[in-house]
Order: sequence, then C-alpha cells, then structure tokens
Amino acid sequence: MSSLKWWQTAVFYQIYPRSFADGNGDGIGDFKGIIEKLDYLADLGVDALWLSPHFPSPNWDCGYDISDYCNVAPEYGTLDDFKTFLDESHKRNIRVILDLVLNHTSDEHEWFVESKSSRDNPKADWYVWADTPPNNWQSCFDGDAWTYVPERDQYYYHYFMKQQPDLNWHNPEVKKAMWDAVRFWLDLGVDGYRLDAIGTIYEDPNLTPHNVPMNLAELRRFSDLAKTPTELKLKDKYWHDMFKNQWGQAGLHGLMKELRAVLDEYDGDRMLVGEDDNIDYMGNGKDELHLVFNFPLMRTEHITPEHVRKNQKERLKRLDILPAETGWPCNTLGNHDCSRIHTRYGDKLHDAELARLNAALVLTMKGTPFLYNGEEIGMTDYMLTDISHVKDTMGTWYYHSIVTIMGVHPEEAMLRTAEMTRDKNRTPMQWSNNSNAGFSPASVTTWLPLNPNYKDGVNVTDQERSPYSLLNYYKHLLRVRKNTPALIQGAYVPVHAAAKDYFAFLRVSEAQKILVILNFSNKRLELDFSRVKEIKSHTLHTLFSSADHSQKEQDLKAMSVNPFEVYIAEVKSIHA
Ligand code: NOJ
Repeated sequence: MSSLKWWQTAVFYQIYPRSFADGNGDGIGDFKGIIEKLDYLADLGVDALWLSPHFPSPNWDCGYDISDYCNVAPEYGTLDDFKTFLDESHKRNIRVILDLVLNHTSDEHEWFVESKSSRDNPKADWYVWADTPPNNWQSCFDGDAWTYVPERDQYYYHYFMKQQPDLNWHNPEVKKAMWDAVRFWLDLGVDGYRLDAIGTIYEDPNLTPHNVPMNLAELRRFSDLAKTPTELKLKDKYWHDMFKNQWGQAGLHGLMKELRAVLDEYDGDRMLVGEDDNIDYMGNGKDELHLVFNFPLMRTEHITPEHVRKNQKERLKRLDILPAETGWPCNTLGNHDCSRIHTRYGDKLHDAELARLNAALVLTMKGTPFLYNGEEIGMTDYMLTDISHVKDTMGTWYYHSIVTIMGVHPEEAMLRTAEMTRDKNRTPMQWSNNSNAGFSPASVTTWLPLNPNYKDGVNVTDQERSPYSLLNYYKHLLRVRKNTPALIQGAYVPVHAAAKDYFAFLRVSEAQKILVILNFSNKRLELDFSRVKEIKSHTLHTLFSSADHSQKEQDLKAMSVNPFEVYIAEVKSIHA
C-alpha cells in the first residue's frame, strides 16, 4: 500500500465546529472542545478531519460567509488555539483539512467594505457589479441575486445570501489575495482543503436570463407541494434551469490548476477535495483536484443494491480514464447540508439496521470515505418547531417569504421550514445523557436546541459502554478496514449483479480478495458464491459480521446471511 497517498488510505471525519464540542461552556463549540475530543477521534479510528469554516464570520451562513480568511472566529478561540489543535491532531496521526470558500466572502469582509464604498476604489472590481440588475437571476438562498448598494448606485451579484457577495475571479488581484490566504494555512501545516461550492465561481458571461416561470420562493413552494410524477419531474427541471447559467461555467479548470500549483509548492502531499461530483475537475489526474465527492450516490430516496451498482459502474468507468494511481473515488452519505443518514435512508421500521448497512457501504466501497460528526452514534434529524430557534437563514428567509407573501399558515410554514432547513442535521453533538447532552453545562442555552434523543441512548458515553452500540460497530468496522489492505486498495468487482435484496462485491488486490455482502432486505438469504469465477474453490474466512456467526469459516456454496446483515470475509484458497 506504500504507493497510495495518505488521502487515499484515510477515513475522513467532518467536524462542524459550532456543534462538535463546547470547551468553554458558552453553548457554542470551539477549539478547546475539539482538542479535548481528539482522543475520542483517535480511538474511533479516523485518520483525517475536515473542519467546516472556523474563520471570523457574521454567521449569516453559519461560517460560510467569511470576514477574515487568516484568523479564527473569536467564539472558537484564537489562532494559538488553532495551532494547538493542529499540532495535537498531528501528534495523533490525524491530518486536518480546512474549508476553503472561494466563491464569495462575507459582506463584512474588508475587501467588500472597500469595494462597495465607491466605483473607483482599489478594490472596486473585486466583486461582480452591474449598473442595473442585468437579468432575473436568483440567489439560491434568498431571492434576487442582485442587491443594490447606494454608495455606488450599483448592484452586486450573490449566488448565496445577499450577505455573501460573489468575488470577481476574473480579477488577478482577487486570485493573488486568496492564494495568499491559502498559503497562510498551508504554512501553518494544514494538510489540504475541501473546496466549497466551486461550481458557482464563474457565471455565464452573456448573463443569459433563466426561463423558469417563477422566482426562488415560488419554486421552493412548488417543490414542497409537488407530488405527481409530472410535477416532480418539472420541479427538477426548474431547479436545473433556474441556475444553469450561474453554475459550472467555463474557467474553472484553469483556476483549479492554479490552486493545485499552489498546493504543490508544499511538501507532504497536501490535498484538495472539491464540493462537486464532476470528475472533470480532477483534470488529468495530477493537475487539478485530488478528489471530488461521489454525490450521485446520495441522490436517491433509498440506498438500494441496484442504485449502488449503477453508481459504481458509472463513476468507476469515468475514473478509470485517469491514471490508476490518481483516479480515486471519494464516497460519503452525509454532511452538514443534508438530512442525516439515519433519518434520510431509514424506512422508519429498520432505521438502525439500515444505518449500519450504509456505514458499512461507505467504509467498504472503493475510495476515500467521508463521515459526518454524530453519524457514528446514529444522530437523527431534529425538526424545530419554533421559528425563533431557526439559525439557518435560508430557512428563516423561506418561512417569512411564504407566510408574508404567499399567505401560508405559520404552522404549515414552520413544518416546511423545519424540513428544508439544515439546522435539523446540525444540532450539537450528543456526548452523554447528562443535561445538554454533555455538550454544554446544564445552565447554558446551546446555540441550536439539542435533539432530545440524547436521553435515549443516542450519545457517546452510553454507547461506549455498550458492546453492541452503533459507535462500537463503527470502531470495529474502521479497525477491520485498516487491517484489511484490499478494502483500501483493492479493485471493485461486483458479484451476483442482478440481486435485488443484497449488494455483494469483491475487493481484489494482488495479495488479498475480500467478499462483502450487504443484505438490504429483511430476509434471511442462502447464497451460493461457488460459481463466481474469481473465487470458486475458495473458502470464506469471516473478518466481520453484524450477526453472530458461530463459525469463522463459511462455505462459499451455502452462505447463510441474516436479515440486514453486513458480512465481510477474506476469500482464501482451499489449498492454502
Ligand atoms: C456549500 C456549503 O456546504 C454550504 O453549507 C454553504 O451554505 C454554501 N456552500 C455556501 O458557502
């Protein structure tokens, strides 16, 4: 495995700093808290952290509106705290990548404050300005994409909230300033970046209007109410058409190459992973991004064997065009922007079983896995019921739009808002069943309400004590992965590729063959793998099973798999 880079063998864990651990007892997560939990992360068995933005920010978009790229938000600590965090992570062999938000800054960033002050200041051209709104473009968070500034008597463009003006990436000074910020953290020793929303960096130069017969609030409402197949199809088409001129435009390859060159000035294999699923952004495999996320895996209501097989076939075929050592996949099923795995892919009857299967899927598929904090204890979405608790401004904006403009009843509006807001999957981490889930002292109001299910076993302390908990299941799986080279580097070979109930595949390296069976059904299965050409005349040596198999060795011909079982075995030659 020595030829693989660290970011190919690592399991990443995303920390959402506001919600991870509150070290100073103010109801908000911080570096002190994260540092205190590094032993927990090392024990869990993850190898790298992706830290969501930790920079100073007025928090219109929970840190994704940055007002200073080279500092630490005071509520999270100081630059020295960050250095301690990095150092302590590295001491435990845990790498750290940061979030890099290129498309926009906060409107309180000094660059924007200067840019908006007049039409002829030195930064006048650092953002995207127009004398009048040149088209009907929408921001994907809060309505019109063009916002008026009296000082310039002009409008600026923003793909996200109006507090997140888009930078003008055609201006070389913008690039230089941003690359300086990139170097600032690389100089401190960070191991790379997750690139935020790269698809939004460039816009259609012709500023072509969209042709959707509604605005953003109306489209969201339309999407909420869409039920029939025609409406659902139309909804997808409208979303695509509304933003197609503001997304995925030419220019990005050049920019990614420049950024890659900055990273490559450094030793230690610093890496870039793009918040995009487009494999084209990996360039020739050596000159753009190291990884892009396999988001198509997540774009489904249910994770089924058919869906995963199709996904793998398409993705791996595309990646195979790149040089073998760099055409590397990157899989995830959850992050701070979407419903939690446990809720989203559950069926309300077997949520716990499905959560285990999905964890096993991400950890056994070919590629670098990304986990999201809290998923290892089965945290679920938490539906807020009071608009005053909603922190995600795209949620509050939507609520007020549909109540005031469309006359939707506040109760219904709240239900819709609770579903669409990302607060539901960003609630504080549940460390114990003490008050405030051990996240903050009992007397404190946490920045987002806690999901009360921390009292019902969905917390770290209770699960650490229980050998069969989800947390111990994750730890066990992570250990098996680490000790099984073919699970990391082996080629993916689907077997029994027509099976509807289960997803079975091999991971094949020169030295080892591993069989993985994920039974997505509630049926007990009797399977025969003896005709699979890669493994016939072999026997199965169990490495991991979520069911209790009394025998270590299993017969390829008569493999019995329990409902929802996860089974991983080394395939060994009978004559060995
Ligand atoms: C993607 C981030 O993941 C999301 O949380 C954020 O709101 C947008 N980009 C804007 O930065």
